[in-house]
Amino acid sequence: MKIAVVGTGYVGLVSGACFAEMGVDVTCVDINNEKIEALKQGVIPIYEPGLKSIVQRNHEAERLHFTTDLPSILNGMEIVFIAVGTPSDEHGDADLSQVMQVAETIADHVNRPLLIVTKSTVPVGTSYRVRDLIRRRLDERGMHQLTFDVASNPEFLKEGAAVNDFMSPDRVVVGVESEQAKELMTKLYRPFLLNNFRVIFMDILSSEMTKYASNAMLATRISFMNDIANLCERVGADVNMVRRGMGSDSRIGRSFLYPGCGYGGSCFPKDIRALISVAEGVGYEMKLLKAVEAVNNQQKNILFEKLSNHFGGKLQGLTIALWGLSFKPETDDVRDAPSLTLIRSLLDAGVTVRAYDPAAIEEARRVLGDAVYYANDIYDAALDADALIVPTEWKVFRLPNWEVLKKVMRSRVVIDGRNIYNGTELASLGFAYQGIGQL
Ligand SMILES: NC(=O)c1ccc[n+]([C@@H]2O[C@H](COP(=O)([O-])OP(=O)(O)OC[C@H]3O[C@@H](n4cnc5c(N)ncnc54)[C@H](O)[C@@H]3O)[C@@H](O)[C@H]2O)c1
Repeated sequence: MKIAVVGTGYVGLVSGACFAEMGVDVTCVDINNEKIEALKQGVIPIYEPGLKSIVQRNHEAERLHFTTDLPSILNGMEIVFIAVGTPSDEHGDADLSQVMQVAETIADHVNRPLLIVTKSTVPVGTSYRVRDLIRRRLDERGMHQLTFDVASNPEFLKEGAAVNDFMSPDRVVVGVESEQAKELMTKLYRPFLLNNFRVIFMDILSSEMTKYASNAMLATRISFMNDIANLCERVGADVNMVRRGMGSDSRIGRSFLYPGCGYGGSCFPKDIRALISVAEGVGYEMKLLKAVEAVNNQQKNILFEKLSNHFGGKLQGLTIALWGLSFKPETDDVRDAPSLTLIRSLLDAGVTVRAYDPAAIEEARRVLGDAVYYANDIYDAALDADALIVPTEWKVFRLPNWEVLKKVMRSRVVIDGRNIYNGTELASLGFAYQGIGQL
């Protein structure tokens, strides 16, 4: 089977590499020449555990190819996946220009039947827009007889666990409108789900909606718990206990009940905004999701507020150690990360920031430049710091040597944005500790 995956970001590169690992002949396409040349040399442009070896192995086995030239390979393919970015535009809508650009290239060069699958997260109806654009162009080219199919196959992988998620998905959602497309997608996904075939076929509109609804649900759980955590602080309850008590109810479950300093990343913020906007477009107000977004925006300021309260609003001239720049552990992605909101507030307040992250320093530098000191390790970050703030729960931060920190820090203050430390233990070591949702 021969397929192309257009867009070699977190989703496209992981999907392409994992399909190749199952024996599919995959060509990954990107307009970024630098990225493609690096990939040909075995250099992976993103940090994603386990990805490098799969890419290198399959590239060497000549099952995984890289090109910037979609037209030249298009007509040898059975399936083309569109996995390009769909960032927010200035109104909060999904910017579909990358998706439509790929559709135009396909429309201008395709000359044999093809299945075009939208893997990017796109508003309901986008796959039909892709279909209609291609049909119109084909008719203009006089190719009225040429048939093609479209399908929707939203991606649910999590950055930081993307390879594993793709190899053993909870489920695969596929929206189709023909038996032929269904058969092709079944053939492609069967190797991943040999023991328990969990592809859920549905219509295309429902498939596109499923992706947004899933992200909206997860974001809702996070904002809900952050709201509960903030209330816990005010009434003297401990959200860690509340979470355990709630999560053991099988109707609720334990996942995504962790309070923190807000959700970030390349998906939740933009997808929530896009869904609110899609609803507005059809005259419906998503009141709940607006609240989810508002709570999240407020939560992203919580670490700064806690710091400011601790120092009585006098932050000018302080030095703050910050552990964790990526929006979550095991990724270098800093898009919409809570750490960036915090750093901007700290810099505005005249604070010196010493930041450390195991993977995201280069990405952060691209956004923040040299406004921050990028430390070599956690202790270097803590040197002469008046407080330590932890916005991301990387494993390497979980068991630091507190005796060393006591020596290198100027004062013993810890603000824990992910509740990874034991406040009682830290208090016994002489640290002033604040977590989220606990006294
Ligand atoms: N990142 C995630 O965890 C995740 C998870 C599920 C779904 N998604 C969705 O998948 C899509 C891709 O996300 P991502 O994080 O991989 O994006 P990304 O920004 O990391 O990568 C997109 C890639 O597409 C390339 N591109 C842009 N226009 C192109 C064109 N015309 N032809 C070829 N390549 C082009 C870019 O150069 C870039 O390499 C988005 O819709 C996103 O919402 C992302």
